[in-house]
Amino acid sequence: MPKIAFIGAGNMAAAIVTGLLAQKVCMPADLSCLGGSGASAQRLTAHTGIRLAASSQDLLADAEIVVIAFKPQHLATIDPSLATLTAGKLVISVLAAKTLARLSAAFPAARNIVRTMPNTPSAIGAGMTGWCSLSPLDSADRATVLTLLRAIGREVEIPESQIEALMGVSGCGPAFVFEFTAALREAGVAAGLDRDTAQMLAVQTLLGSSRLMAETGTEPETLRNQVTSPNGTTFAGLKRLEAHHFRAIIAETVQAAKTRAEELAQG
Ligand SMILES: NC(=O)c1ccc[n+]([C@@H]2O[C@H](COP(=O)([O-])OP(=O)(O)OC[C@H]3O[C@@H](n4cnc5c(N)ncnc54)[C@H](OP(=O)(O)O)[C@@H]3O)[C@@H](O)[C@H]2O)c1
Repeated sequence: MPKIAFIGAGNMAAAIVTGLLAQKVCMPADLSCLGGSGASAQRLTAHTGIRLAASSQDLLADAEIVVIAFKPQHLATIDPSLATLTAGKLVISVLAAKTLARLSAAFPAARNIVRTMPNTPSAIGAGMTGWCSLSPLDSADRATVLTLLRAIGREVEIPESQIEALMGVSGCGPAFVFEFTAALREAGVAAGLDRDTAQMLAVQTLLGSSRLMAETGTEPETLRNQVTSPNGTTFAGLKRLEAHHFRAIIAETVQAAKTRAEELAQG
């Protein structure tokens, strides 16, 4: 792997660094970071052994790849010298709602720019990241991007025009799943279980069901039908979901997230 510099050293940078080191695709000496005015970069360095850069110039001196991992609002106030310091380098952004056009205005001389949209399970290596690039990636840069994103979970290349739809499904999806899990727990409490037991049942049921879908590659409808006997208990429950338009509610939820993502990308 080429040397990688991280601008921004918070949760997302830590997830990528931890994944790259755990998979032994990089050594700590190949990675360096720089934060803002807080302590995140010192923390990341102390936890992982990667190099803490003294300045933007120091950070980018021998890095081939630059990962942009600060908050989207910081893009407007970054060190202006980054526009020239990133010349000829591959820039990979994890910034939500920052388009390739906006990124290429900030890093005009980069050899290519990749826009990614990861999600929070990235922190445990179980993320889902959608990505697109400004120009088609050459084979070496593609290999680098795949290695980096696979260090935090799965990845899929999609056209930039679909990033907001992906945001509605996998970007915001974890929060929708957490809300569903909490609703399942509360329903268990209402049905007579104590809260801790209901929480354990709900979380393990989500985990087991997700693994069953992922590991068998079976359509969720097929797995649902396998546990639904005519006029049985699951059938009784599913009828209530249908009566209350469960699928329409989820469709509206994803659409609302997508619409908001489009508004933010324009702003
Ligand atoms: N967390 C996720 O699961 C997730 C999911 C999808 C997308 N993202 C994207 O990932 C990005 C980072 O999110 P995060 O959760 O990692 O944020 P975070 O933990 O708050 O970290 C932000 C980092 O940016 C640094 N920073 C602040 N101002 C800066 C500046 N002017 N120049 C350079 N660095 C600066 C901070 O340094 P100091 O501590 O020194 O201030 C900190 O290291 C965001 O753009 C977000 O949209 C995150």
